[in-house]
Amino acid sequence: MEKTVVLITGCSSGIGLSLAVRLASDPAKTYKVYATMRNLAKKERLLDCVKGLHKDTLDILQMDVTDQRSVLDARQRVGEKRVDILVCNAGVGLMGPLEAQSLDTMRQILEVNLLGTISTIQAFLPGMKTQGHGRILVTGSLGGLQGLPFNEVYCASKFAVEGVCESLAILLQHFNIHVSLIECGPVNTNFLDNLQAAEPGSSGEQVDARTQSLYEMYLQHCGTVFQNAAQDTDDIVKIYLEAIQSASPAFRYYTNSALLPITSPKTAASDGLQYIKTMSKIIFSTNNKVEQK
Ligand SMILES: NC(=O)c1ccc[n+]([C@@H]2O[C@H](COP(=O)([O-])OP(=O)(O)OC[C@H]3O[C@@H](n4cnc5c(N)ncnc54)[C@H](OP(=O)(O)O)[C@@H]3O)[C@@H](O)[C@H]2O)c1
Repeated sequence: MEKTVVLITGCSSGIGLSLAVRLASDPAKTYKVYATMRNLAKKERLLDCVKGLHKDTLDILQMDVTDQRSVLDARQRVGEKRVDILVCNAGVGLMGPLEAQSLDTMRQILEVNLLGTISTIQAFLPGMKTQGHGRILVTGSLGGLQGLPFNEVYCASKFAVEGVCESLAILLQHFNIHVSLIECGPVNTNFLDNLQAAEPGSSGEQVDARTQSLYEMYLQHCGTVFQNAAQDTDDIVKIYLEAIQSASPAFRYYTNSALLPITSPKTAASDGLQYIKTMSKIIFSTNNKVEQK
């Protein structure tokens, strides 16, 4: 039987790596996986995970989602000359007081998370339209559905990805192409280590003491949330499989039922303030009241 061809971005670690390993190891050998990563020097981890097996179900390709040439080269290297399932997973975080972030760093986040996702979809969309079917799965984030302090640029990139996917999904129904967002809460990956933390003074602006102290409270809150609710990549892979195997996939899948996005306060009152107040209370609760400086 013909294999389902899956191309995944960002497979050097984390969710992308786990998904590539799971699909390439499928007992029924249903999938041919093109696991892509921007730096092939990092492929050993993936190879270790598959222990040299799965030569017929796994290929590793170089692909930097911010480099259109590299995206097109990867597309060219797909032996079957078609991709049935495209997984846009590559992403980077950015955390810290907004005024401390340099324009270059902010640009880089938007380049990877937003333009990288868009240009990857652009590259594979015409093929899917021609073949008359396809699935586009995107690793989304709670930070794409609700604002989070000290994550303004990351949230902006992930909110924008929601807009891209929702807009595309309406059109692509007419081409038998399904778009799904796999909305993740905290996941135990290298994401936190890899995220860009704003270096004090890198933008040339000093951060005031009150902001710095609120940031510290936010970091504590993050630590607690990760400790209590972070999922493992296997949990995310299960949801990916559900979406991949469904005859009629949902548009959104929430990976963590214990940590759903707080969306109803956003629309509960027309002034939009309820979410702002709720979130502020959750993160900067009075127990940890910041000293007014
Ligand atoms: N972990 C979480 O808590 C969490 C929560 C919500 C959503 N997410 C989303 O999950 C996705 C995967 O992240 P992860 O948690 O698995 O973290 P990760 O382990 O840091 O994986 C991120 C992957 O993206 C790749 N990448 C970065 N820039 C790239 C580029 N220009 N071109 C191609 N690949 C690039 C990284 O490659 P390098 O090794 O070369 O850097 C890495 O393979 C991201 O979209 C992230 O926003 C994560």
